Amino acid sequence: MIILSPSILSADFANLERDVKKVCDAGAEYVHVDVMDGHFVPNITIGPCVVESLRKVTDKILDVHLMIENPLEYAEAFLKAGADIITIHHETSPDIDEIYALTQKYGKKLCVSLNPPTPVEVLDQYADKVDMFLVMSVNPGFGGQSFIESSLDKIRYLRKKYPDIDIEVDGGIKLDNVNKVIDAGANVIVAGSAVFCAEDPEQTVKQFMGEKV
Ligand code: DX5
Ligand code: ZN
Repeated sequence: MIILSPSILSADFANLERDVKKVCDAGAEYVHVDVMDGHFVPNITIGPCVVESLRKVTDKILDVHLMIENPLEYAEAFLKAGADIITIHHETSPDIDEIYALTQKYGKKLCVSLNPPTPVEVLDQYADKVDMFLVMSVNPGFGGQSFIESSLDKIRYLRKKYPDIDIEVDGGIKLDNVNKVIDAGANVIVAGSAVFCAEDPEQTVKQFMGEKV
């Protein structure tokens, strides 16, 4: 089953509740929250207080993608705020045992991601601790970038080796390339600009989920 995780990075932050409800009512099961610190990536976005506010307006899975230099320092604040999935980046050299213990303590899921230049094999060391791997298919930092084709090989590698682990893909996913990543083995699809910049976001969510609209 394919899960859609619309990235609110492309939503209207002044109308976040409206935009989140729109995509959730249309059938999206996750809400992807991009947290950026201006150090790990050249952009600054959302902190735990926004997650806390989102928690009050939706029961959907809050899929929190930490693009920050020291994820361990902030992970607990996001878990307390109501995150259901915490994604950290391999490139931050995370203390996986500590962060795993933390997500276990809150009964939440852990995911490890990697940037486009990083070889996929680095993820092997996390396989016994994670519920999901996130393959970045753009260089993290901004919405609306073009999909990097070499991400497909990473998805195939992970799907073949880890049939039971969720594989999420994030960056440059549109209606016209989503089938490619699904065929490669991804089962959780992040889409930001393709959903929120669409003329009709609800209809676009339904189309992503394979419904005839
Ligand atoms: C990029 C973020 C993505 C971004 C995707 O650094 O991690 O989640 O919002 O946006 P689109 O779908 O527009 O590429
Ligand atoms: Zn993301």
